[in-house]
Amino acid sequence: MIIASNFKTNHTRESTATFLKEVEGYIKKSGITDQVLVFPTATSLMQNDSILVGAQNAYPVENGSFTGEIGLEQLKEYSIDSILIGHSERRHILGESQELIAQKYDFFKAKGFTITYCIGEPLEVREQGHDAVIEYLASQMKGIDTGYDKLIVAYEPVWAIGTGVTATEEDIRSTHDALKAKYGFASLLYGGSVKVANVAEILGIDSVDGVLIGTASWDYVQFCEILKKSKELKGE
Ligand code: PGA
Repeated sequence: MIIASNFKTNHTRESTATFLKEVEGYIKKSGITDQVLVFPTATSLMQNDSILVGAQNAYPVENGSFTGEIGLEQLKEYSIDSILIGHSERRHILGESQELIAQKYDFFKAKGFTITYCIGEPLEVREQGHDAVIEYLASQMKGIDTGYDKLIVAYEPVWAIGTGVTATEEDIRSTHDALKAKYGFASLLYGGSVKVANVAEILGIDSVDGVLIGTASWDYVQFCEILKKSKELKGE
């Protein structure tokens, strides 16, 4: 399983270091075999031996004149080779187009990054049913090399992100099954209000290879609880 945490605009450099230290300690102590990913803010990027630390965003350049952005040069300083692309908050709040998203994808793919690529439909599309959802998600795959070997896909329905509303087991299963059948994704995560109370049920779905967690992951105690649940599920 892949258990990933998206810090969004939370934590400082100091509290990120504490989080990583505590989670790393737990991974070692408890023999966690899941792949653990953490996406802190750009100001809190740092390496960790047990956790793959990635950037939440970067501009598709080495360096240059893109005020407010960071590029590959700044990521390299912290040996970062993993990035989150296409998160719904960047698509819908920051207004990132599919074209820019695809440019970022191509750039970081060419640099050999592990890419966690997010897709997800808004509520009005979900209300139109399964076929409309799959069609919408296909539009978010436009320009994306779905065969990239370092690709992790995260299916995150927009209406389930940060709302406390999780998709039903059936919605997750049918959407993941369809995505796997269509694209053959090897690593397909679910995200959207995943927490200690529901993570076992979600990870228990056959076509779910892990979870991408926001809110419930920011507290390292809860995040370690989630790692524990995943370990228990495997009977380890
Ligand atoms: P959430 O966020 O767990 O707070 O719903 C998930 C995400 O945005 O990746």
